[in-house]
Amino acid sequence: MQIRQPAQVVTAMATQEGAGVTVHRALGTPLLPDADPFLMLDEFKNDDPKRYMAGFPDHPHRGMETVTYMLAGAMRHKDNQGNEGKLRPGDVQWMTAGRGIIHSEMPEQEKGLMWGFQLWVNLAAKDKMTKPRYQEIKGADIPEVTRADGVRTKIIAGSLDGMTGPVSGIGVSPLYFDITVPKAVTFEHPLPEPHRGFLYMFEGKAEVGEGDKARIVPRGSLAVLGAGDSVRISASAGSDARMLLIAGRPLNEPVVKYGPFVMNTREQIYQAIDDFQSGRF
Ligand code: CO
Repeated sequence: MQIRQPAQVVTAMATQEGAGVTVHRALGTPLLPDADPFLMLDEFKNDDPKRYMAGFPDHPHRGMETVTYMLAGAMRHKDNQGNEGKLRPGDVQWMTAGRGIIHSEMPEQEKGLMWGFQLWVNLAAKDKMTKPRYQEIKGADIPEVTRADGVRTKIIAGSLDGMTGPVSGIGVSPLYFDITVPKAVTFEHPLPEPHRGFLYMFEGKAEVGEGDKARIVPRGSLAVLGAGDSVRISASAGSDARMLLIAGRPLNEPVVKYGPFVMNTREQIYQAIDDFQSGRF
């Protein structure tokens, strides 16, 4: 068993998205442009409505997937093909944009805490122009496994201890866990090749890896996992640690990005812009 050591640890950067919403971007920055097959991870956490009410008005996507996971607050989603839904705390939306959608993602509250994550997952060349698809999963339908040592894992995608998460039919065979490791407890889980992934700490801190190469990952930081076949995460003695553990099969294909269009060639990006501007989404 080879433990995956942290290959890189980066701190999320504050940035403005949508119509002026402050988000913290951990993946998809100059420090860490992508982690194949993942393109972006934002944490949005605000208790000041002025910083989130403007939301994310109409914008397109093509060639990729967006995964929204809410911890607090509510978000209404609406697209140009008649799909609409409301995400509440604990809910997940796995949206496969495929050949293209135009949607808005707007807060459905006027006060209180808005907290969640958005992950962008790349699609393989053969799937980029697929029909758009939504998987909307209520928090109550996400299984949670509690181990004897107190580690609690919500399984959004992938499997742990014989339990499998509800997200299905995704090309990169993803694993998406929300894990709480009690203080001074160590969590281990098999994560064999060819999967690649990272963890993002959002409460407390933990040591990732083992021996000399292990690193402390504090709240608001992302650790890219190196090669190996299992993960080891040890929460600090002072507090519980809570994190997202995300992994998938790398695509090893060229990536050409232009905002929310993610294709393989520049020509496909020009086509996407033309299709969008000509109303073909
Ligand atoms: Co979007």
